[in-house]
Order: sequence, then C-alpha cells, then structure tokens
Amino acid sequence: MCTVRWQACLCVCAYGQHLAGNHIKADSNHREGRSCVRYKCSLMNTVLDVLHQRPGWVEVKEDGEWDFNWCDVGWLRENFDHSYMEEHVRICHFRNHYELTRKNLMVKNLKRYRKTVEREAGRLEAVKCDFFPLTFVLPSEYHLFVEDFKRSPGSTWIMKPVARSQGKGIFLFRKLKDIMEWKKVKICSSNTDCTRSDEQRDEAQVESYVVQSYIENPYLIHGRKFDLRVYILVTSYLPLKAWLYRDGFARFSNTRFSLRTIDDQYVHLTNVAVQKTAPVYNPEKGCKWQMQQLRRYLTAKHGTYVVEELFKDIDNIFIRSLQSVQKVIINDKHCFELYGYDILLDQDLKPWLIEVNASPSLTASNQDDYEMKYSLIEDTLHIVDMEGRLTGKEKRVGGFDLMWNDGPVFRENAGLETLGSPFQTANTHLGGVNDRKKQLRQLLKPFPGQKKV
Ligand SMILES: Nc1ncnc2c1ncn2[C@@H]1O[C@H](COP(=O)(O)OP(=O)(O)O)[C@@H](O)[C@H]1O
Ligand SMILES: [Mg+2]
Repeated sequence: MCTVRWQACLCVCAYGQHLAGNHIKADSNHREGRSCVRYKCSLMNTVLDVLHQRPGWVEVKEDGEWDFNWCDVGWLRENFDHSYMEEHVRICHFRNHYELTRKNLMVKNLKRYRKTVEREAGRLEAVKCDFFPLTFVLPSEYHLFVEDFKRSPGSTWIMKPVARSQGKGIFLFRKLKDIMEWKKVKICSSNTDCTRSDEQRDEAQVESYVVQSYIENPYLIHGRKFDLRVYILVTSYLPLKAWLYRDGFARFSNTRFSLRTIDDQYVHLTNVAVQKTAPVYNPEKGCKWQMQQLRRYLTAKHGTYVVEELFKDIDNIFIRSLQSVQKVIINDKHCFELYGYDILLDQDLKPWLIEVNASPSLTASNQDDYEMKYSLIEDTLHIVDMEGRLTGKEKRVGGFDLMWNDGPVFRENAGLETLGSPFQTANTHLGGVNDRKKQLRQLLKPFPGQKKV
C-alpha cells in the first residue's frame, strides 16, 4: 500500500498530469518523472526548516505548482476558492477553520452544541460541556451581558477582540463604566456617519469583542498563573479523526498573581508575546515548563488519580470542542489542521477552554522549544503522509496518539475486564514519555532512496 501510493505519485509526475494546487498545464518538465513532493510555505520559522530538511521535498517559488502547502490563513482566504487541487494535494487549514478559531464563533458553536447535547442526551451529559467561561459577543449581545453582569456584582470580566492574538487588545474590568468608555472610544475613533442609529454604528464600526467571565482563581505554581498550550492535529472532520501530541507546555506569568491590580497584563495574560516584554523577563530561563514537568509536579502534589482525572477532563474539552464544529467545518480531504489549544486550570483543577488557535506560534523561543516544535511539525508531516508510508491503521505516529477516530480510541494493552465490561483506557498520553524516535524507527519505512540504519 505504501509503495503503491509513492509510486502513484511518480506515475502522476511521469505522465505529466495535473499535480499541484494551481492549474497546471502538462508540459515536458512533468514528463521527466519526479520522485519529490513540491511544497510551498508562507512561514519563515521552524516549519520551513523542517520542510527544507525533509528528504525528497523541494520548495517551489511564488507561482510554482505545489503538492503541499503550509500557508497562512490570509493566503487561504485569498486563494483557496480559486485553487484546483488534485487528489493527493494537501494544505494546512480547513477552509472555514475560523468556526473554531475565532473567539466569538467558537463560543457560538459550543453554546449550540451544548443545547443539542442537553436535548438529545439530557442534562447530566450537557454538564460535560461546561468547560468554557460565560461569554458574550459585543456589541451584539451587550444587553444579555449587562443582565448577567448585574447578577454578579464585583466580579471580574475580560474583554478580548475576536480576531486578534498574542494578548493584543485585551483588558480586564469590573465596572460597567469601563466598558462604556471603551464603547465610546471605539465609536468616536471611527465615527464618520452621525446619522446612523447607535446600533447601526456599533455594527458598522466597533470591532467585535467577546466579554468573558474572568477565571479569578487560577491554579498557581510559586504564586504564578499559567495556561497550557496543547497541540491537536485534525486530519478529517467527517468522520472526525484527531491526534493529540504528547508534548506541549505551560506558559507562566513572570509576576505573582493578584486580583488587586487588574490592569497589569504581566500578571493576567500568560501569552509568551506579552511575558517576554516584561521588565523582569529572563530570556535564559524563559517562561515555560514542558508538559512532562507540569504533569510530574501535579502528580507529586495531588497524586496519580487526581491528575489522571484532570487529563481526562482536558481530553473531554478537545473532543467536544471538535464535535461542536464537526458539521460546520467544510470537510475536505485536502485539508488538515494543527490546532494550538489554550487551557487554563483553576484552583480546583478544573480545566477551562480559553481559545483554539489555527496558527499556533511555531517560532521557537529557545533550543528546547525549537526541538519540540521541530519534532511536532515533523510528526505532523508523517501523519499527513505525502510519501504514503503509513497503512492508515496507526494509533500512534511519533509524538502523536490517535485520540478520536469516528469514536474514542483505546490503548491496545488495556484489555482488563471488570465485571464483564471491558476496562478501557483512552489512547492519550499528554505530558507522558515521548520516545518518538524509537517509535518512528519501528513504524516507518525509510524514505525512498534512504537506507535503513
Ligand atoms: N476568561 C479568562 N480567565 C482568565 N484568564 C484569561 C481568560 N481569557 C484569557 N485569559 C488570559 O489571557 C490570555 C490571552 O487570552 P486569549 O483568549 O488566549 O487571547 P489571545 O488570542 O490574545 O491569545 C490567556 O492565555 C490567559 O492567560
Ligand atoms: Mg491565546
């Protein structure tokens, strides 16, 4: 099967048929025969390094024909609809990825999903969807928000622009007048048409924000707040096929947590982009812990059982959030997506979904970070499998474990029976040992033309 697909690629090249994402004319170059994957890449970071070093892959120039495209979402928006893609071509985003990765749309989809679950499976099941903080979209849900705001006097809220990242434009508040001022500033700064009603002006000129209940009791380590960055690879939405990466990290704030100062972003926002501009930031030390380190710390503190339950709850967030958009995302066999999940833990070790990123930063902040991201991208390419080296039945590829394959995936060796019902353990190992090199050596045939060591 593997060789067939690889040879199929050779044949396509050899017979000069359409290969790439753009319209291609059969010409003499194609008839030469090619045993390569032609890639295009919009990023200038670790991704490009991995692509450069992948045996048999060659970069194409601006308008060149490609088989694989690691594009940014801007490129996707402008070009996807005009691109004709051959069967084997792959691209790194789904067309409407924003249904999950825009803060407002994610919440809209989650709310709808929760309602469906409640209707179809009952309240107990719906409670399992309560992993995102109470959220409203502004300006459209302003009145709903005010009702809730009044119900919880003194609590803290966080305002976030729906389509920005790296902590940009975010602020915390406790008084309605703070948001009224924001509203005024936003409207005045772009107010050109005074004949419109307030509502129309809001719609037309105010950047959309979400206002969200602020998690006031984050889990602290050494007095500092952190959140988790976890990587999930989706290779299909219908049926849903999702992989969880074993590595990831916790991103710490440099400054001790306190609710006294709500306007200090160094205390409240854990984005690396924010923290590295803090006066106390030490680039040698950075502000990250590897997921393994965090898991060890939590296990030492709370015991294995508690931590396993926590990680099960985190898995639940991944699966349900993906299911919430399963019917909305345009499924396309050419597309895959490597998501960066932001998860925050509170003092009770309850995980909260903060957001999902379509373009998680793959630029490294130090050597360890580089190695982790390099491996992550390499393993992503192994799964996308342009070379046809997999059978399609794998449950693990390098650091990725298959978490969902049209249903939950269980570990192979967990065949213990309890009272007649099979005792099954989820096939996920977030923060577990990542012996990916060994596993890949056993799993993958060498690249064509490469000798097995
Ligand atoms: N509801 C919340 N409660 C507590 N902290 C939050 C909340 N939302 C965001 N944060 C903090 O702000 C950071 C940035 O928020 P996020 O929604 O991820 O926006 P961005 O796209 O700018 O990264 C998070 O990493 C987290 O530290
Ligand atoms: Mg974020």
